[in-house]
Amino acid sequence: MTTPTQPTGAPPPGSASTPPTQGDSAPDGAVAAALFSLTGRLALVTGASGVLGAHFARVLHGAGAAVVLAARRVDALAGLVAELGAERAIAVPLDVTDPASIVAACGAAEARFGRPCDVIVNNAGVAVTKPVLQQTAEDWDAVLDVNLRGCFLVAQEAARRLVAAKRPGAIVNIASVLGERVIAGVAGYTAAKAGLIHLTRQLAVELARYGIRANVLAPGYVATPLNAEFFASEAGQAMVRRIPQRRLGRPEDLTGPLLLLASEAGAHMTGAVLTVDGGHSVNPL
Ligand SMILES: NC(=O)c1ccc[n+]([C@@H]2O[C@H](COP(=O)([O-])OP(=O)(O)OC[C@H]3O[C@@H](n4cnc5c(N)ncnc54)[C@H](OP(=O)(O)O)[C@@H]3O)[C@@H](O)[C@H]2O)c1
Repeated sequence: MTTPTQPTGAPPPGSASTPPTQGDSAPDGAVAAALFSLTGRLALVTGASGVLGAHFARVLHGAGAAVVLAARRVDALAGLVAELGAERAIAVPLDVTDPASIVAACGAAEARFGRPCDVIVNNAGVAVTKPVLQQTAEDWDAVLDVNLRGCFLVAQEAARRLVAAKRPGAIVNIASVLGERVIAGVAGYTAAKAGLIHLTRQLAVELARYGIRANVLAPGYVATPLNAEFFASEAGQAMVRRIPQRRLGRPEDLTGPLLLLASEAGAHMTGAVLTVDGGHSVNPL
Protein backbone atom coordinates (compact mmCIF):
# COMPACT_ATOMS: atom_id res chain seq x y z
CA MET A 1 0.00 0.00 0.00
CA THR A 2 1.37 3.41 -0.87
CA THR A 3 1.07 6.38 1.41
CA PRO A 4 -0.17 9.55 -0.28
CA THR A 5 2.13 12.49 0.12
CA GLN A 6 1.18 16.03 1.01
CA PRO A 7 -0.56 17.45 -2.07
CA THR A 8 1.25 20.31 -3.76
CA GLY A 9 0.19 23.61 -2.30
CA ALA A 10 -1.78 22.01 0.52
CA PRO A 11 -1.40 23.63 3.91
CA PRO A 12 0.58 21.74 6.53
CA PRO A 13 -1.48 19.60 8.89
CA GLY A 14 -3.21 21.65 11.52
CA SER A 15 -3.57 25.21 10.60
CA ALA A 16 -3.57 27.98 8.08
CA SER A 17 -1.54 30.30 10.24
CA THR A 18 0.92 30.17 13.09
CA PRO A 19 -1.00 30.58 16.33
CA PRO A 20 0.37 32.92 18.95
CA THR A 21 2.10 31.31 21.92
CA GLN A 22 2.20 32.21 25.57
CA GLY A 23 5.65 33.70 25.02
CA ASP A 24 4.36 36.26 22.56
CA SER A 25 4.31 39.80 23.83
CA ALA A 26 0.68 40.84 23.61
CA PRO A 27 -1.77 42.68 25.79
CA ASP A 28 -3.47 40.60 28.47
CA GLY A 29 -6.10 38.38 26.89
CA ALA A 30 -5.02 39.04 23.33
CA VAL A 31 -3.10 35.78 23.01
CA ALA A 32 -6.06 33.72 24.18
CA ALA A 33 -8.48 35.70 22.04
CA ALA A 34 -6.33 35.14 18.96
CA LEU A 35 -5.92 31.43 19.71
CA PHE A 36 -9.64 30.85 19.96
CA SER A 37 -10.69 33.28 17.21
CA LEU A 38 -12.66 31.93 14.27
CA THR A 39 -12.59 35.13 12.26
CA GLY A 40 -12.56 34.28 8.56
CA ARG A 41 -13.83 30.74 9.14
CA LEU A 42 -17.07 29.27 7.78
CA ALA A 43 -18.80 26.88 10.16
CA LEU A 44 -21.50 24.35 9.28
CA VAL A 45 -23.69 23.27 12.20
CA THR A 46 -26.05 20.39 11.55
CA GLY A 47 -29.13 20.17 13.73
CA ALA A 48 -28.92 23.92 14.33
CA SER A 49 -32.67 24.00 15.03
CA GLY A 50 -32.07 22.01 18.23
CA VAL A 51 -31.01 23.16 21.66
CA LEU A 52 -27.30 22.39 21.45
CA GLY A 53 -26.99 23.12 17.74
CA ALA A 54 -28.33 26.64 18.23
CA HIS A 55 -25.92 27.16 21.11
CA PHE A 56 -22.97 25.90 19.05
CA ALA A 57 -23.92 28.22 16.19
CA ARG A 58 -24.07 31.23 18.54
CA VAL A 59 -20.68 30.33 20.03
CA LEU A 60 -18.96 29.92 16.66
CA HIS A 61 -20.52 33.12 15.37
CA GLY A 62 -19.47 34.95 18.53
CA ALA A 63 -15.89 33.81 17.92
CA GLY A 64 -15.97 35.44 14.50
CA ALA A 65 -17.06 32.68 12.13
CA ALA A 66 -19.72 32.93 9.48
CA VAL A 67 -22.22 30.19 10.22
CA VAL A 68 -24.30 27.87 8.07
CA LEU A 69 -27.30 26.72 10.07
CA ALA A 70 -28.61 23.40 8.80
CA ALA A 71 -31.62 21.27 9.67
CA ARG A 72 -34.63 19.65 8.02
CA ARG A 73 -36.95 22.26 9.58
CA VAL A 74 -35.39 25.24 7.88
CA ASP A 75 -38.27 27.45 9.07
CA ALA A 76 -37.12 26.81 12.62
CA LEU A 77 -33.78 28.45 11.76
CA ALA A 78 -35.15 31.82 10.65
CA GLY A 79 -35.15 33.31 14.14
CA LEU A 80 -31.51 32.41 14.71
CA VAL A 81 -30.46 33.90 11.35
CA ALA A 82 -32.31 37.08 12.30
CA GLU A 83 -30.61 37.11 15.70
CA LEU A 84 -27.11 36.62 14.27
CA GLY A 85 -27.59 38.80 11.19
CA ALA A 86 -27.62 37.79 7.54
CA GLU A 87 -24.10 39.07 6.93
CA ARG A 88 -22.51 36.07 8.67
CA ALA A 89 -25.37 33.57 8.95
CA ILE A 90 -27.52 31.61 6.54
CA ALA A 91 -29.99 28.78 6.95
CA VAL A 92 -29.92 25.79 4.61
CA PRO A 93 -32.24 22.79 4.46
CA LEU A 94 -30.39 19.59 5.28
CA ASP A 95 -31.38 16.00 5.82
CA VAL A 96 -28.19 14.20 6.81
CA THR A 97 -29.67 10.85 5.75
CA ASP A 98 -29.84 12.06 2.13
CA PRO A 99 -26.49 12.41 0.30
CA ALA A 100 -28.00 14.76 -2.32
CA SER A 101 -29.25 17.03 0.45
CA ILE A 102 -25.75 17.16 1.96
CA VAL A 103 -24.18 18.09 -1.39
CA ALA A 104 -26.83 20.77 -1.90
CA ALA A 105 -26.34 22.26 1.59
CA CYS A 106 -22.55 22.40 1.25
CA GLY A 107 -22.94 23.84 -2.24
CA ALA A 108 -25.34 26.54 -1.04
CA ALA A 109 -22.91 27.52 1.71
CA GLU A 110 -20.00 27.70 -0.73
CA ALA A 111 -22.04 29.71 -3.22
CA ARG A 112 -23.03 32.23 -0.55
CA PHE A 113 -19.63 32.70 1.10
CA GLY A 114 -17.26 31.81 -1.75
CA ARG A 115 -15.34 29.14 0.13
CA PRO A 116 -16.06 25.71 1.61
CA CYS A 117 -17.10 25.20 5.20
CA ASP A 118 -13.94 24.72 7.27
CA VAL A 119 -15.48 24.09 10.68
CA ILE A 120 -17.97 21.24 10.58
CA VAL A 121 -20.05 20.48 13.65
CA ASN A 122 -21.82 17.17 13.20
CA ASN A 123 -24.50 17.78 15.80
CA ALA A 124 -27.74 16.39 14.32
CA GLY A 125 -28.89 13.47 16.43
CA VAL A 126 -31.95 11.40 17.28
CA ALA A 127 -32.75 8.65 19.76
CA VAL A 128 -35.35 5.90 19.97
CA THR A 129 -35.98 4.80 23.54
CA LYS A 130 -37.21 1.20 23.80
CA PRO A 131 -35.88 -1.96 25.43
CA VAL A 132 -33.64 -4.08 23.21
CA LEU A 133 -36.35 -6.72 22.86
CA GLN A 134 -38.78 -4.17 21.42
CA GLN A 135 -36.48 -2.30 19.05
CA THR A 136 -37.37 -2.80 15.40
CA ALA A 137 -35.08 -2.82 12.42
CA GLU A 138 -36.63 0.52 11.45
CA ASP A 139 -35.80 1.98 14.88
CA TRP A 140 -32.22 0.84 14.52
CA ASP A 141 -31.87 2.19 10.98
CA ALA A 142 -33.43 5.55 11.86
CA VAL A 143 -30.95 6.17 14.68
CA LEU A 144 -27.88 4.86 12.90
CA ASP A 145 -28.76 6.74 9.70
CA VAL A 146 -28.68 10.13 11.43
CA ASN A 147 -26.14 9.64 14.22
CA LEU A 148 -23.50 7.64 12.38
CA ARG A 149 -24.04 7.37 8.61
CA GLY A 150 -25.15 11.01 8.45
CA CYS A 151 -22.05 12.21 10.28
CA PHE A 152 -19.84 10.20 7.93
CA LEU A 153 -21.53 11.59 4.83
CA VAL A 154 -21.37 15.20 6.05
CA ALA A 155 -17.71 14.87 7.07
CA GLN A 156 -16.86 13.22 3.75
CA GLU A 157 -18.55 15.87 1.61
CA ALA A 158 -17.07 18.72 3.62
CA ALA A 159 -13.60 17.15 3.49
CA ARG A 160 -13.82 16.57 -0.26
CA ARG A 161 -14.53 20.26 -0.76
CA LEU A 162 -11.69 21.34 1.55
CA VAL A 163 -9.21 19.04 -0.16
CA ALA A 164 -10.30 20.31 -3.59
CA ALA A 165 -9.81 23.90 -2.39
CA LYS A 166 -6.52 22.99 -0.62
CA ARG A 167 -7.77 24.43 2.65
CA PRO A 168 -7.46 23.10 6.22
CA GLY A 169 -10.46 22.40 8.42
CA ALA A 170 -11.76 21.12 11.72
CA ILE A 171 -14.49 18.51 12.12
CA VAL A 172 -16.18 18.33 15.52
CA ASN A 173 -18.39 15.29 15.94
CA ILE A 174 -20.90 15.54 18.77
CA ALA A 175 -21.04 12.14 20.42
CA SER A 176 -22.05 11.51 24.04
CA VAL A 177 -20.86 9.83 27.20
CA LEU A 178 -23.18 7.11 25.91
CA GLY A 179 -20.58 6.42 23.22
CA GLU A 180 -18.42 4.93 25.95
CA ARG A 181 -20.94 3.93 28.63
CA VAL A 182 -24.39 2.40 28.29
CA ILE A 183 -27.81 2.92 29.76
CA ALA A 184 -30.91 0.80 29.21
CA GLY A 185 -33.29 1.59 26.38
CA VAL A 186 -31.11 3.27 23.77
CA ALA A 187 -29.26 0.46 22.00
CA GLY A 188 -29.07 2.17 18.61
CA TYR A 189 -28.01 5.47 20.14
CA THR A 190 -25.16 4.04 22.22
CA ALA A 191 -23.94 1.93 19.29
CA ALA A 192 -24.08 4.90 16.93
CA LYS A 193 -22.22 7.22 19.32
CA ALA A 194 -19.56 4.56 19.94
CA GLY A 195 -19.24 4.18 16.19
CA LEU A 196 -18.98 7.94 15.79
CA ILE A 197 -16.07 8.05 18.22
CA HIS A 198 -14.18 5.40 16.28
CA LEU A 199 -15.15 6.95 12.93
CA THR A 200 -13.61 10.20 14.18
CA ARG A 201 -10.30 8.44 14.80
CA GLN A 202 -10.45 7.08 11.26
CA LEU A 203 -11.14 10.55 9.85
CA ALA A 204 -8.28 11.96 11.92
CA VAL A 205 -5.83 9.46 10.49
CA GLU A 206 -6.90 9.78 6.87
CA LEU A 207 -7.45 13.54 6.75
CA ALA A 208 -4.41 14.77 8.71
CA ARG A 209 -2.31 14.93 5.55
CA TYR A 210 -4.77 17.51 4.19
CA GLY A 211 -4.65 19.68 7.30
CA ILE A 212 -8.12 18.57 8.39
CA ARG A 213 -8.55 17.66 12.05
CA ALA A 214 -11.38 15.53 13.45
CA ASN A 215 -12.27 15.35 17.12
CA VAL A 216 -15.17 14.30 19.32
CA LEU A 217 -17.00 16.45 21.81
CA ALA A 218 -18.78 14.04 24.17
CA PRO A 219 -21.28 15.76 26.45
CA GLY A 220 -22.88 14.18 29.45
CA TYR A 221 -26.51 14.90 30.17
CA VAL A 222 -27.33 18.52 29.37
CA ALA A 223 -30.47 20.11 30.74
CA THR A 224 -32.85 20.88 27.88
CA PRO A 225 -36.62 21.40 27.68
CA LEU A 226 -36.90 17.87 26.27
CA ASN A 227 -35.46 16.15 29.34
CA ALA A 228 -36.65 18.62 31.99
CA GLU A 229 -39.52 16.40 33.07
CA PHE A 230 -37.31 13.32 33.50
CA PHE A 231 -34.69 15.16 35.52
CA ALA A 232 -37.38 16.60 37.76
CA SER A 233 -38.53 13.04 38.59
CA GLU A 234 -37.10 10.86 41.37
CA ALA A 235 -35.28 8.68 38.82
CA GLY A 236 -33.81 11.77 37.19
CA GLN A 237 -32.72 13.22 40.52
CA ALA A 238 -31.11 9.88 41.42
CA MET A 239 -29.13 10.07 38.19
CA VAL A 240 -27.96 13.59 38.99
CA ARG A 241 -26.70 12.34 42.37
CA ARG A 242 -24.44 9.90 40.50
CA ILE A 243 -22.71 12.79 38.72
CA PRO A 244 -19.65 13.72 40.83
CA GLN A 245 -20.33 17.43 40.31
CA ARG A 246 -23.97 16.80 41.34
CA ARG A 247 -25.44 18.76 38.46
CA LEU A 248 -26.45 18.38 34.85
CA GLY A 249 -24.49 20.04 32.11
CA ARG A 250 -25.55 23.36 30.67
CA PRO A 251 -25.06 24.33 27.04
CA GLU A 252 -22.53 26.95 28.25
CA ASP A 253 -20.36 24.15 29.66
CA LEU A 254 -19.66 23.13 26.06
CA THR A 255 -18.61 26.60 24.88
CA GLY A 256 -14.90 26.41 25.71
CA PRO A 257 -14.46 22.77 24.68
CA LEU A 258 -16.15 23.45 21.31
CA LEU A 259 -13.95 26.46 20.64
CA LEU A 260 -10.84 24.50 21.58
CA LEU A 261 -11.61 21.81 19.01
CA ALA A 262 -12.75 24.24 16.30
CA SER A 263 -9.95 26.80 16.54
CA GLU A 264 -6.17 27.09 16.30
CA ALA A 265 -6.05 26.54 20.06
CA GLY A 266 -6.54 22.85 19.24
CA ALA A 267 -4.15 22.82 16.27
CA HIS A 268 -2.30 19.69 17.46
CA MET A 269 -5.46 17.84 18.53
CA THR A 270 -6.92 15.27 16.20
CA GLY A 271 -8.61 11.96 16.94
CA ALA A 272 -9.28 13.12 20.50
CA VAL A 273 -12.40 12.60 22.60
CA LEU A 274 -13.19 15.57 24.81
CA THR A 275 -15.65 14.46 27.48
CA VAL A 276 -17.65 17.18 29.24
CA ASP A 277 -19.84 15.51 31.84
CA GLY A 278 -19.07 16.70 35.36
CA GLY A 279 -17.30 13.39 35.96
CA HIS A 280 -20.38 11.24 35.28
CA SER A 281 -18.60 8.72 33.06
CA VAL A 282 -15.73 8.16 35.49
CA ASN A 283 -17.95 7.60 38.51
CA PRO A 284 -16.85 4.38 40.24
CA LEU A 285 -18.99 1.27 39.73
N1 LIG B 1 -29.05 17.01 25.22
C1 LIG B 1 -28.22 16.17 25.79
O1 LIG B 1 -28.30 15.88 27.00
C2 LIG B 1 -27.12 15.53 24.97
C3 LIG B 1 -26.12 14.83 25.64
C4 LIG B 1 -25.10 14.24 24.91
C5 LIG B 1 -25.08 14.35 23.53
N2 LIG B 1 -26.09 15.05 22.90
C6 LIG B 1 -26.03 15.12 21.44
O2 LIG B 1 -26.05 16.48 21.07
C7 LIG B 1 -26.70 16.62 19.80
C8 LIG B 1 -27.82 17.64 19.89
O3 LIG B 1 -28.71 17.25 20.92
P1 LIG B 1 -29.93 18.18 21.38
O4 LIG B 1 -30.21 17.83 22.78
O5 LIG B 1 -29.67 19.60 21.03
O6 LIG B 1 -31.10 17.57 20.46
P2 LIG B 1 -32.39 18.24 19.81
O7 LIG B 1 -32.73 19.52 20.49
O8 LIG B 1 -33.40 17.15 19.73
O9 LIG B 1 -31.85 18.57 18.35
C9 LIG B 1 -31.60 17.57 17.41
C10 LIG B 1 -31.33 18.24 16.09
O10 LIG B 1 -31.06 17.23 15.11
C11 LIG B 1 -31.71 17.61 13.91
N3 LIG B 1 -31.94 16.44 13.07
C12 LIG B 1 -32.59 15.29 13.38
N4 LIG B 1 -32.63 14.48 12.33
C13 LIG B 1 -32.00 15.12 11.31
C14 LIG B 1 -31.71 14.80 9.96
N5 LIG B 1 -32.12 13.64 9.41
N6 LIG B 1 -31.04 15.70 9.20
C15 LIG B 1 -30.64 16.88 9.73
N7 LIG B 1 -30.89 17.24 11.01
C16 LIG B 1 -31.56 16.37 11.79
C17 LIG B 1 -32.99 18.29 14.35
O11 LIG B 1 -33.44 19.23 13.39
P3 LIG B 1 -34.67 19.00 12.39
O12 LIG B 1 -35.68 18.17 13.11
O13 LIG B 1 -35.13 20.38 12.07
O14 LIG B 1 -34.04 18.32 11.22
C18 LIG B 1 -32.51 19.05 15.58
O15 LIG B 1 -32.03 20.32 15.20
C19 LIG B 1 -27.16 15.22 19.41
O16 LIG B 1 -26.22 14.62 18.55
C20 LIG B 1 -27.20 14.49 20.74
O17 LIG B 1 -27.04 13.10 20.58
C21 LIG B 1 -27.11 15.64 23.58
